[in-house]
Parts: sequence; C-alpha cells; structure tokens
Amino acid sequence: MDSPESFREQLSETIEQLKARLEFEAYFAVDYLPGSSLGPDRQLDNQVGPDSKQQVVTDLKADSLDSAELIQSADNKQARIKSLYQKTRTCAFCDLHKTRTNVVFGDGSLDAELVFIGEAPGHEEDISAKPFVGLAGGLLTKIINAMKFKRSDVYITNLLRCRPPNNRNPLPEEVVCCKPYLIELLEIIKPKVICTLGKFAAHTLLNQTIPISQLRGQWFEFKGIKLMPTFHPAYLLRNPQDKKLVWADMKKIMDVLNKYET
Ligand code: URA
Repeated sequence: MDSPESFREQLSETIEQLKARLEFEAYFAVDYLPGSSLGPDRQLDNQVGPDSKQQVVTDLKADSLDSAELIQSADNKQARIKSLYQKTRTCAFCDLHKTRTNVVFGDGSLDAELVFIGEAPGHEEDISAKPFVGLAGGLLTKIINAMKFKRSDVYITNLLRCRPPNNRNPLPEEVVCCKPYLIELLEIIKPKVICTLGKFAAHTLLNQTIPISQLRGQWFEFKGIKLMPTFHPAYLLRNPQDKKLVWADMKKIMDVLNKYET
C-alpha cells in the first residue's frame, strides 16, 4: 500500500494532468470546434478556414485591442503568428514543457511557398530555440540551397515544438497536443507545398501508417495544399545512399514551384 505522501503526490500529479487536459479541451474545442462532440484531433482534420480567423479574433481580444483593430489584424500574418507564438511559449498541455529549455516554434518566411516539417527539436534546437540547427539541420540547409532557395525563403518547423527527452520518438499524446499549433501555422502561412521530413510528420498530417519508404516521392494533399513526404535528414546522415531518392523528391517540388530548369 502506498504511503499517504506518495498517494498525495500521485493525486496532485493526476489533478495537474487533468487540469492541463481540460485547458487543452477548452482552448481548442472553443476555438476550433464549436458545438462538436468528437475529440479535438479528429475534428481538426476536417476544419479549415473561418474558424482560424475566429480564433485570432479571440486571441487579439485577449490583448485588448479595439474592434476596428481586431478586424484589420485578423488578416495580418504577423499578428496571427505573434498570437500563435505567445500561446506556444506558455503551452503546458503535455509533459514536454517540464523538460524543455525553449519552445522551438519555427523559422523562415511567413510568405514561404514551401514549408518543411520535421519531427521535433533536438538538443541544439532546444538550446537555440531554432529548428534544424544541428547536424541534420546542416544537411537540410544544403538540400534547401540545392533547390535554389535560401533558408530564409522557406519556412521550417516541426511536428512537436518541444524536445522529447533524449530525442526519443514523439508520443501520441504529445502529437495530439501539438498538432493544432502546426495546423494553425499552416493556415496562416498558406504555402503552395508542404514537405514532411520523416515518418512522424507524414503519418500525422496524412492520417496514415504506411512506411515512409512507400509514402515518399508521391504527391498528397493536406487541406488543399500539396504535400510531399520524404526521408528525414537525420535518416540520410545514417543512410547516405538514399540521398538520391530525396533529391528526386525535391525535384518534384522544384517543378511545382517553377524552380527546376533542365
Ligand atoms: N530534427 C528534427 O526533426 N527537427 C529539428 O528541429 C532538428 C532535428
């Protein structure tokens, strides 16, 4: 039998988890899912458009702007990103907030035609608050440059905004908590093409479990945006023989973005 202290500790942890869950439900259910009975994650797959504007207005209201400013700001990418960033900075919906040094939101142009989505921040990203700055990031930068883009032309982000301890794989509940931020970010940027890196981002956005080796290189669609899954740069560091496959995938993207000249 547990001691009263350990029982109290467990109880208080359970209450904390419940509180975080309720906040999560209230936050996303109100903003994205009015009057709905399904879970937040499932709903978000079918929702895009007006609701995200509603959310911005809600957030900006919290910042006590007057209504004329609210309407103007609803279309302002900067304001929407700032509002989204503020929400992620203080996010405590999953346990990763306890071990993170920084929230790694994303980096690049808000007008990017191309968004890369990795898995989760690693050690260097957690310290610097920037995505893909470690070894895998170096390779991603080379790929981006080979596509005739600068890093600042594209937008780079991750499925998760906080580092999983010891770089372990994202847990399903972490994905559920972080996915709405990613979806809102994509709604704000509205790129022409999304390139998912590795299986986690592809499986999450496509609602699939097919191996990445079979998904990669094919066009999919996510909320009307063309989506190309490819291998993660960290995988390429371990399997350089597959770089040519990724390059073939990038050429398909360049084609769509008129970057590919023969
Ligand atoms: N791997 C990722 O998936 N994302 C990063 O930001 C860094 C490494």
